Amino acid sequence: VEQFFAPKILQGLSLLLTAGPTREAIDPVRYISNHSSGKMGFALAKAAIEMGAKVTIVAGPVNIETPLNINRINVESTQEMLDAVMQQVHHSDIFIGCAAVCDYRVADIATDKIKKSAHEMALALVRNPDILASVAAHPQRPFTVGFAAETQDVAHYAKDKLKRKNLDMIAANDVSDPSQGFNSDTNALTVFWSHGQYELPATDKLTLARQLLTLIAQQMKTA
Ligand code: CTP
Ligand code: CA
Repeated sequence: VEQFFAPKILQGLSLLLTAGPTREAIDPVRYISNHSSGKMGFALAKAAIEMGAKVTIVAGPVNIETPLNINRINVESTQEMLDAVMQQVHHSDIFIGCAAVCDYRVADIATDKIKKSAHEMALALVRNPDILASVAAHPQRPFTVGFAAETQDVAHYAKDKLKRKNLDMIAANDVSDPSQGFNSDTNALTVFWSHGQYELPATDKLTLARQLLTLIAQQMKTA
């Protein structure tokens, strides 16, 4: 019902977003990943539909039903997520990197299940590409928004990522607080852009998603 009353401030705009974790295979039965639930990304997708946007979500492995009217592309690895995003980026007006992307992948994925032998073993890892920075570097760059999950010096690290990745906006959250981020149903964000910042106090993720999208729409107008 509420979608009929939501202000259609994103009417005519296409939103592309990433959500959930990525998953890096070690061998046919094992992987490296993280605890991202995908809830924030799917809340953003739902809120954006209410506000009149066309939404494509590139989702890692998460246990969430697809909200109505959303184009969902399921991926596992970081490279798959990057490929899916890059295929969509040229016809997107807004990109939000909400996924908890694995920073590293296994250097050589074993083709057979690894058998245990020695008492110790080491796994060689290599750096993954940065999806968000790749979008921001695209010649037909959408309005590009990142997330920053930090456990310390939240403002410092978030502003550093805003600059370093050349973003239009970054939403930072303190994941050292168990009521925020990752698997929680609530979250609080501090949003930074080049000439300002705004506090979004703790609330449910759908409310927070509407507030963040409102800030994005405002900044796109003034940009
Ligand atoms: N991100 C991405 N691709 C990566 C790593 C991160 O798109 N390979 C995006 C995330 O989706 C998020 C933002 O970059 O929007 C910040 O992610 P975060 O993990 O906080 O930053 P990193 O640059 O990976 O730095 P670090 O983990 O060392 O703090
Ligand atoms: Ca990271």
